[in-house]
Amino acid sequence: MIRDVLPDDVVAVTFDEVGLSDADALAALHPVGADQIGGAVESRRIEFAAARACAREAMHRLGLPAAPVVRGGRGMPVWPAGVVGTLTHTDGLRAAALARADAVRSLGVDVEPHGPLPEGVLDAVALPEESAWVRAALGEEPDVRWDRVLFTAKEATYKAWFPLTRRWLGFADARITLVPTRVAGGAAEGELRSRILIDPHAVDGGPDLLDLRGRWAVRDGYVVSAIVLRPARVDSVEP
Ligand SMILES: CC(C)(COP(=O)(O)OP(=O)(O)OC[C@H]1O[C@@H](n2cnc3c(N)ncnc32)[C@H](O)[C@@H]1OP(=O)(O)O)[C@@H](O)C(=O)NCCC(=O)NCCS
Repeated sequence: MIRDVLPDDVVAVTFDEVGLSDADALAALHPVGADQIGGAVESRRIEFAAARACAREAMHRLGLPAAPVVRGGRGMPVWPAGVVGTLTHTDGLRAAALARADAVRSLGVDVEPHGPLPEGVLDAVALPEESAWVRAALGEEPDVRWDRVLFTAKEATYKAWFPLTRRWLGFADARITLVPTRVAGGAAEGELRSRILIDPHAVDGGPDLLDLRGRWAVRDGYVVSAIVLRPARVDSVEP
């Protein structure tokens, strides 16, 4: 499902593909990561460790040596040199998506269960034009939770944005456009665009982050959104 929204040069791995138990994943955690998450409740330690087991498997599939992924400032995962990636975990799903840094500048993936946002959350996270679009889409196609799709698109945007800017991006700081390309029987997929509404300066030496592009899908009880930012010289590669 995550692969459906990513190009072929991004490797996505879910924990069920890794072949480890939760206890194995915890035992395999690098001591720095184990230290960073040691005080958390067990379920949080397990999701942290499981996502990192997915990341190690993704490094292997990329032909790179497995290296630890520790937690950096504001929760950002810190990738080994030459790699970019993103982690996500939700009920029943833990995953990593990684790529070589010469092909991809930044990645953001967010997965959530396909259900309505809690009461009041849409208006708290959406710009007025986004709420209006979501409500109209829910009217036309109520089997797809467009509010949840918008939410994952915003969180994926933040995950791709932060490593390149090291700055906060609030829910009102990017305007999301969802373009459905297929909607059928409660499943759906499409493209997404995040228009950044605050200072778009990046600190990685690359171009400003004015527009972030990606894809989203509703499938198998989940909603997934992914942003794939290419380095300037390969910007012509479709995400
Ligand atoms: C950080 C955030 C996006 C995580 O999303 P989530 O749905 O709560 O949780 P997920 O399981 O999908 O993702 C968690 C992973 O996000 C990653 N993450 C956390 N902070 C991050 C940051 N600053 N930059 C990049 N990735 C980050 C981490 O890898 C984390 O997993 P880990 O703690 O095991 O390493 C969310 O908690 C948040 O703070 N959102 C507010 C900011 C936002 O979304 N703005 C909208 C802009 S339009």
